[in-house]
Amino acid sequence: MDKINLLSSYTFSNGFVVKNRIVMAPMTTMSSFYNGQITEDELKYYQLRAGGPGMLITGVAYITEQGKGFEGQLGASSLQHLSGLTKLAKTIKQNGTKAILQIFHAGRMSNSKVLRGINTVSASDVAALRPDAEKPKALSENEILTIIEDFANATHLAIQAGFDGIELHGANTYLLQQFFSPHSNRRTDQWGGDLSKRMKFPLAVIKKIKTMINTTAKQPFLLGYRLSPEEFETPGIRLQDTLTFVDKLATSGIDYLHTSIGHIWRQPIGEHLDSSPIILQMLNVINNRIPLIGGGSVQTPDEVTNILNKGIPLVALGRELIREPKWVQKVENDDAQSIRYRLSKAEMDELAIPPAMQIYLNESFRDVMDFTTDTSLSTNRYLNQIAPMEGYEKKL
Ligand SMILES: Cc1cc2nc3c(=O)[nH]c(=O)nc-3n(C[C@H](O)[C@H](O)[C@H](O)COP(=O)(O)O)c2cc1C
Repeated sequence: MDKINLLSSYTFSNGFVVKNRIVMAPMTTMSSFYNGQITEDELKYYQLRAGGPGMLITGVAYITEQGKGFEGQLGASSLQHLSGLTKLAKTIKQNGTKAILQIFHAGRMSNSKVLRGINTVSASDVAALRPDAEKPKALSENEILTIIEDFANATHLAIQAGFDGIELHGANTYLLQQFFSPHSNRRTDQWGGDLSKRMKFPLAVIKKIKTMINTTAKQPFLLGYRLSPEEFETPGIRLQDTLTFVDKLATSGIDYLHTSIGHIWRQPIGEHLDSSPIILQMLNVINNRIPLIGGGSVQTPDEVTNILNKGIPLVALGRELIREPKWVQKVENDDAQSIRYRLSKAEMDELAIPPAMQIYLNESFRDVMDFTTDTSLSTNRYLNQIAPMEGYEKKL
């Protein structure tokens, strides 16, 4: 069989075409204004990285003030955000790159400082197993219905702003995952309990968003879902639960599924029936019903080609596109040998990395950025463990 060319286009089942197989993974810049407005610093960062990848997914935006996760986060919660989001979509949509807005509610993974004194909320009043985690308030039935509306309204904003799609951030321990997780969801009503009840909230969000897309989008608009396959908490999400969820998601109306794992070939860390890479197990369950975006520690064109040839049609690059904004253009110009795989602190301004993001990379991601000053590097370090990029930056 001929090798799939990473520069070849891909057509989704709704007719939506991306010009190549590279997706920029969503990465928070920490650089929006206090009120969620996009800043010039962020626009410059995205501008430099747009144009190459077939699809660029933004750092995650909050859908309601109470769902804000951290200072400097992008907002998609009110009409006041529309003009900034419109600028962002326009900036990304250069040279055929498709613009996808990632959205979430942080749930218990926020704190009352970020929320200006307001309590965090979640499926149940169980604090996360993290240092300084606050005990959230359990959401009422009405509050759940309001949040589902908020997700649909954020999607409407994305459509009005000119985005090509939204991605639901159902990964990295935020609210969508909190409803699916038996650690954070101890409810006994229709929104919690057994596995199928714990799927109910994400599926209700998808359904509401589909209706919004069908009634307001004038052209094909993608709906993606990102998930984390496992948690280390007990009780917590196990791979077997996720495979059941993936099967359900494959017929839920989403256009693609996106995994959040630190290494593309990571094996299950919990008890498991099968030790083969998580992504291949998911691929098996999906059985060609929807496309999968795979990623995690992918750096070179050869690695991407290898992933494509395993049947994963789209490959996400995260940190590598921070280090090398022109990765795709270099491949297009037969100049792959000049791709940067390390990040020099002296080049961070030149790479248009906003100052607040530079601090974030230096503090939260120092060990994983492959700075030129690092003496030990290993791209295989997350084959058998949860990576800090999956929302578990602090070791217990
Ligand atoms: C600085 C930074 C910010 C991130 N922010 C997000 C985010 O907003 N949403 C998300 O789903 N993942 C986020 N991630 C995770 C990445 O999307 C990606 O899954 C992870 O970095 C592993 O891929 P990589 O090895 O290609 O970087 C972030 C990662 C980094 C390094």
